[in-house]
Amino acid sequence: MAAALIVGTFFLVLIGLVIVFLFGKFFNLWLRAFVTRARISPLTLIFMSLRKVNPNVIVDAKINAVQAGLQEISTAALEAHYLAGGNVTRVVRALIAAHRARIDLDWDTAAAIDIAGRDVQDAVRTSVDPKVIDCPDPRHGRTTLDGVAKNGIQLKARARVTVRTNLSQLVGGATEDTVIARVGEGIVSAIGSSETHSQVLANPSLIAQAVLRKSLDAQTAYEIVSIDIADIDVGDNVGARLQADQAEADMRVARAKAEQRRAEAVASEQEMQALTQENRAKVVLAEAEVPMAMAEAYRSGLMRAESNGAASAGSAG
Ligand SMILES: *[C@@H]1O[C@H](CO)[C@@H](O)[C@H](O)[C@H]1NC(C)=O
Ligand SMILES: *[C@@H]1O[C@H](CO)[C@@H](O)[C@H](O)[C@H]1NC(C)=O
Repeated sequence: MAAALIVGTFFLVLIGLVIVFLFGKFFNLWLRAFVTRARISPLTLIFMSLRKVNPNVIVDAKINAVQAGLQEISTAALEAHYLAGGNVTRVVRALIAAHRARIDLDWDTAAAIDIAGRDVQDAVRTSVDPKVIDCPDPRHGRTTLDGVAKNGIQLKARARVTVRTNLSQLVGGATEDTVIARVGEGIVSAIGSSETHSQVLANPSLIAQAVLRKSLDAQTAYEIVSIDIADIDVGDNVGARLQADQAEADMRVARAKAEQRRAEAVASEQEMQALTQENRAKVVLAEAEVPMAMAEAYRSGLMRAESNGAASAGSAG
């Protein structure tokens, strides 16, 4: 009987000590949650630390959320996000900012954006306060978008694109680089489809509007608010340069052909000279044969004369 009493007392004291210890450890947190009406029970706090979730982070986040009027975020959701490796503080701050700015952003979307590795606070900020991106991106070396109007004059333009994040498209949507590439492409083709460069110069906003109408922001994380042509300059006269290049090429071809004809003429002249020489040699040869022929003729004439003489002598005699 006495032994049972001693064991019982021992257990009671042990439980009491544990309670006092836990009370000491979590009392502060619990009290903070209690006075800010964040409603986190002491048991939840104990389980939280058993699950290796930092109760300080969760309580702070929960208090911030409740104070900002976001009662619907549950402690369990915060804990789950913490365990998934997300940054609870950042998501709650982003949600508060979105709530203040009356942007439609729910816990699931914000948590997904955070888990996807994008800065959800920055996304909300950009969604409230649109940001301006330069097109083309000067970090990639190019400074102007070069298009050629139909009359052959090149125009060099620079555009500024104002974008706002589309929070529902942020996970899986294409990034800033895609927007820059699409806008660049659109401006170059808009310049290319204008009749003259002076049309574009007179009203640069026409090409900006043409680009804006193409809804280039589809499938990207952004919504394009506006596209503005920051500046536009006249570049080369590409048409004239091409014509000059063509004329130059034509001239080279003609020169090559003339050269060929000249070479042919030289060759045929040399052939003629050779022929002349040959003929002259033949003449010389023929001339050389004349005295011989004459001698021959003479000799044969003499012989004929002799034989004639003999015959006449015979007839005479
Ligand atoms: C969570 O985000 C906040 C605010 O962006 C930052 O100060 C903090 O260091 C982050 N915590 C972790 C664990 O990354
Ligand atoms: C954001 O993206 C969704 C899905 O593509 C679209 O329906 C919505 O209109 C976009 N919001 C804005 C503000 O562009």
